[in-house]
Amino acid sequence: RIVYVNGEYVPEEEAKISVFDRGFLFADGVYEVTSVLEGRLVDFAGHITRLRRSLSELEMASPCTDEALEAIHRELIARNNLTEGVIYLQVTRGAADRDFAYPAEGTQPSLVLFTQDKTLIDTKAARDGIKVASVPDIRWGRRDIKTVQLLAPSMCKMAAKAQGADDAWMVEDGFVTEGTSNNAYIVTGDGTLVTRNLSNAILHGITRAAVLRMAREAQIKVEERPFTIDEAKAAREAFVTAASSFVNPVVEIDGVSLGDGTPGPIARRLREIYIEESL
Ligand code: PDD
Repeated sequence: RIVYVNGEYVPEEEAKISVFDRGFLFADGVYEVTSVLEGRLVDFAGHITRLRRSLSELEMASPCTDEALEAIHRELIARNNLTEGVIYLQVTRGAADRDFAYPAEGTQPSLVLFTQDKTLIDTKAARDGIKVASVPDIRWGRRDIKTVQLLAPSMCKMAAKAQGADDAWMVEDGFVTEGTSNNAYIVTGDGTLVTRNLSNAILHGITRAAVLRMAREAQIKVEERPFTIDEAKAAREAFVTAASSFVNPVVEIDGVSLGDGTPGPIARRLREIYIEESL
């Protein structure tokens, strides 16, 4: 695999980052994951806009222009013959002597990108749905910034897997925040689509924005508000969204089957619309 590191395209074995990189020492970095279908980027503008916001919230310098970032994405797709999968992009504050304070201005940010071949359309999760287990949300207070400090969601996912689930739905003050790497939705008994409103408590998903627009265009009633895990267990259906998985139905929450235990019609329909618009 050819990866991109600070201006160079190199085989992954040859890529180097300093041990003093603040991404490595402090998780002082942000990232984006953009999906690729038929060799084309999906919703790239949305990912770049969010990257800009993450950088500015952390007062982090940008490594290059949006146009340059897009060119690197395209070059990596070409060099790796990527047709279906994702591109991971990471910007860190760069290498500096270890200190909790940000280094003085002028530190060169590090930029790393790599591709991952991944089946996105024809997946088992999409066909059969996934099982989730609720776990306490132990993450920090700025989940709206897409930082690389992912140990808390990683621990949450492991806790869910230990219970036999595929992923966690993280819960704070009784309300579901989101999945470990996706936004969470339920469909209530009267057919209303409910997902948590945007705040610092969740990541502002790019797929979420697209899917909510598509739902509204399809005349589905949408409510953006917190919901409890009990409301979710009583829901008609549920699903999650992320760039790397589009729309995935949730068929079980804490061992409770939703509906007839198969992917719900709204999740299936929104997945279809999302893929159709992305191709
Ligand atoms: N995760 N919530 C969290 C906590 C996430 O990490 C993600 C994305 C999302 C969905 O956002 P989007 O629709 O923009 O992908 C929600 C990426 C895919 C990851 O970490 O791999």
